[in-house]
Amino acid sequence: MSRFQAAGPLRGTLRPPADKSISHRAALFGAMCDTPVSIRNYLYAEDTLSTLDAVRALGAAVQVQTDELVVRGVGMRAPLMTTNELLNVGNSGTLMRLLPGWLAGQPGGRWQLDGDESIRRRPVGRIARPLEQMGARVTTAPGEKPPFTIEGAQLTGIDYVSNVASAQVKSCVLIAGLLADGSTSFTEPTRSRDHTERLLRGARVPFERDGTTVRVRQCDELELEDLRVPADPSSAAFFVTAAAIVAGSRIVLEEVGLNWTRTAFFQIAQRMGAVLLGDLEAPGTESAHEPVGEVDVAHAPLEATAVGGDEVPLAIDELPLVALLGVFAEGETIVRDAQELRVKETDRIASVVDGLRGLGAEIEATSDGFVVHGTGRLRGGVFDSRGDHRMAMLGAVAGLASEEGVDVLNMTAASVSYPMFESDLDSLVAAR
Ligand code: S3P
Repeated sequence: MSRFQAAGPLRGTLRPPADKSISHRAALFGAMCDTPVSIRNYLYAEDTLSTLDAVRALGAAVQVQTDELVVRGVGMRAPLMTTNELLNVGNSGTLMRLLPGWLAGQPGGRWQLDGDESIRRRPVGRIARPLEQMGARVTTAPGEKPPFTIEGAQLTGIDYVSNVASAQVKSCVLIAGLLADGSTSFTEPTRSRDHTERLLRGARVPFERDGTTVRVRQCDELELEDLRVPADPSSAAFFVTAAAIVAGSRIVLEEVGLNWTRTAFFQIAQRMGAVLLGDLEAPGTESAHEPVGEVDVAHAPLEATAVGGDEVPLAIDELPLVALLGVFAEGETIVRDAQELRVKETDRIASVVDGLRGLGAEIEATSDGFVVHGTGRLRGGVFDSRGDHRMAMLGAVAGLASEEGVDVLNMTAASVSYPMFESDLDSLVAAR
């Protein structure tokens, strides 16, 4: 249990840890290359260490050096020598959904994937369906959950229409598409984060986009340029929230990834009244590059807002923070169309609502989100992270703005994406 209490304004400058989504992809795509790839500022956290273990188990060599990580890949069609391995994805939904795209395209290969107790509750059917249509065989535990087995095949390209906007499912299908005969397209209801597309463009893989449809063609070889991973906007969002709700705060976050498919939360916070400076990438930008920049945040009176529709997938991991902003905002903050929150590391609608209500917030769950009645204050108490990294960090930030302090149960869960979270938070509070 860790205790977080009101300690005055946050002040100072911080570079949040490296982006988790991009780190996973960099290691995975690096492993699919024939020539070594250097990755600077890789995220060394539990989730992305699971990805390094997985690519090692598939034959890639991973060298951790002082200022870079070098992945010596096995090429797109090579991991067959490790067939029948059990690959442990730990807590990582991204690894569990992206890796099968590669494995599915290895004729004669067979692998089992499993992970922790949280991963065993997360849906796999959403990737099993397209991979099976392409010709692979995926056998899941009852309820389409892990553990599951993938038997690779010579895949055939498909045009897949997904009923959920998910960068994980999209990435899985696109990776499988690189190994499939002909061309493969993926269409989602609204846009999701596009790091996979940017990496593919950077690798000069033929790639087309038309609205929410992306198309790739079979490709023999991946050639990735050396990469530098930006700081994670989803990790930055915890400090943005803390600065927005703790009176007198003013902080600067450096080298933050500002890819427009990840910055919807910054725009929501701005709409609610938080003073947020920094040049965000223009929505709709198509690029091979991951832009970075400074985010400068100051406390200000907040107003309620409504979040729904196209904005939801672009702020999915930050929606719990919208609830906390809503507690301190005037009016009723509504999040809708966010039923995907129910299948994250925990059911994040239930975790947020039960957790914040236990601290004195007026918040109710709906089937696809929540409604927060802003009271401008939070009493404090005990907050159960339920072993979910983003819930643990939410509880900690809530503590800084609470009257009586917050004891977060299972705070160590934060190490899945942010091992240094507590000391970074301390440095901003102590720098005042
Ligand atoms: C991720 C995509 C999102 C997000 C997750 C990371 C990714 O999941 O919630 O934390 O790296 O592609 P979905 O694609 O399932 O929405």
